[in-house]
Amino acid sequence: MINQIIVAKFLLLVFWVPFSFEFPNFGVEAQPLETKPNMSQESESLSCLVAGATGATGGEILRLLLGKDKNVGKVVVLARSEASAAKLQAIIIDQISATGSSMVEIVRVLSEDYESKSETLRNVFSQKGPFDIVFTAMGTSRVNPEVQEAMEEYGLGLGFEKFLKKVDLGFNLALAELALENGVKLFSRISARGANADGEVNPDIQWSYYPKYQGLADKAIMALPFPKGVHILRPGRLDRGEEFRKLRPHEVGAHEKMGPGLSVTHVARKAVAMALADSSNDVISASAAARIKIVDEAEIVQFSKREEL
Ligand SMILES: NC(=O)c1ccc[n+]([C@@H]2O[C@H](COP(=O)([O-])OP(=O)(O)OC[C@H]3O[C@@H](n4cnc5c(N)ncnc54)[C@H](OP(=O)(O)O)[C@@H]3O)[C@@H](O)[C@H]2O)c1
Repeated sequence: MINQIIVAKFLLLVFWVPFSFEFPNFGVEAQPLETKPNMSQESESLSCLVAGATGATGGEILRLLLGKDKNVGKVVVLARSEASAAKLQAIIIDQISATGSSMVEIVRVLSEDYESKSETLRNVFSQKGPFDIVFTAMGTSRVNPEVQEAMEEYGLGLGFEKFLKKVDLGFNLALAELALENGVKLFSRISARGANADGEVNPDIQWSYYPKYQGLADKAIMALPFPKGVHILRPGRLDRGEEFRKLRPHEVGAHEKMGPGLSVTHVARKAVAMALADSSNDVISASAAARIKIVDEAEIVQFSKREEL
């Protein structure tokens, strides 16, 4: 009987998707599919917002949040395009069919919405929230068409910088500022090894901009007084899995030459475990410094080894 209910709800979701794409600025809303077992006996369930969930790390964060074992009652995910929303829908369907439950919703947020902190973005917080945690694994890439265009126009270094400034710093900071204004308790961001706000940049060295803007984003977000903290994870080169890797020729080359990097699954597990633990904890730390947690690659590796024991 339970299986029949799950199948029926699964089919409802599948047929619901194309229909919902017809709305101009859609909120693709997957209805609550199943009540989590024992949810009412657990502590109050958490609600989460995820940006960058179409990416390798963000997708893993989303999968984990939809897991049955997590005390998460609601997940809202942001998508910038129809293609991104369709990708998210696929992850959600896949995960829900595997694990069962959770209330999940996709909301379309465009570049302009982040840039102007538009009504659409504000409404995500005021109408879909309140959220306990915001996760972001949103960041630009050299292979994205808009970045390629900018690199052609401004040169490799300055073209890349334009989008690091806009997305990695600007969009993530806009999200964090609105999160704080709207009572979000904890902000978790995937940054990168070597992040350094004071790093030197050189237009002839394209990669010089990357650590600089990761550092600037970390610094600006860490300054925001989220009551349960700011988590900054700084992994090095990621193993994004075969599907994602093959979309980036430089990554295939690096994988062949240097072997796999740090698995995105491990990064996501650490981010989710930390955020859920600190959010469920009643204690609000007195010191601002204690609420900021910077996690480096070694700590992520250690955590994943402990988990595997
Ligand atoms: N890849 C690595 O080896 C590595 C290493 C260390 C740290 N990091 C950092 O870790 C984070 C996650 O990395 P990842 O490799 O998992 O990311 P990814 O697969 O490249 O995914 C990036 C996410 O950001 C979104 N995004 C990109 N440009 C955007 C824009 N202009 N507006 C709105 N959303 C945009 C993408 O959305 P779409 O799907 O719509 O494009 C996607 O959801 C990134 O911040 C990255 O800098 C990466």
